[in-house]
Amino acid sequence: MAILKVARLGHPVLRTVAEPVPVEVIGSPETQRLIDDMVETMREYDGAGLAANQVHTRMQIAVIEVQANPRYPDAPPIPLTVVINPVVAPLGEEMEEGWEGCLSVPDMRGRVPRYTAVRLQCYDRDARRVDLIAKDFFARVIQHETDHLNGLVYLDRMRDLSTLSHIAEWHKHWLGLAEQSD
Ligand code: NI
Repeated sequence: MAILKVARLGHPVLRTVAEPVPVEVIGSPETQRLIDDMVETMREYDGAGLAANQVHTRMQIAVIEVQANPRYPDAPPIPLTVVINPVVAPLGEEMEEGWEGCLSVPDMRGRVPRYTAVRLQCYDRDARRVDLIAKDFFARVIQHETDHLNGLVYLDRMRDLSTLSHIAEWHKHWLGLAEQSD
């Protein structure tokens, strides 16, 4: 396995739309190695998720996992989830603002409105169909990662940029407020 280089904001690959992965390609050694490397890269940098465009590969693949993550100390655990060719639909109109960061936008945080519940249909790494309902933080991460696959970053979803904060200032000025309001 290998730790991959993560594209940062400004690299055009983050603004490209990823291509669907042919189902027969999911099981190939190359795709499986990419998934392994994405998982290792996500864990190395304490990401809650990682999309393939972020590691310079235009395939509709994202990985998601939260296990006692120092970058998201209050986030509930999410088991390792490999998402291929996702289709995401909101369940209802309800949206909620919450803090997000991104390995491609290092050391920043901002408040982002997201649907509180979504239906995710995709394939897993064994090319099995997945059809699940996700809520709250899991739903948030799914929306963040599938946005990446469509060339969007969380900044595009912010209603305004007034909460956009460097991580040091976020800890100093926002974290206590976040705990009260979230
Ligand atoms: Ni991101």
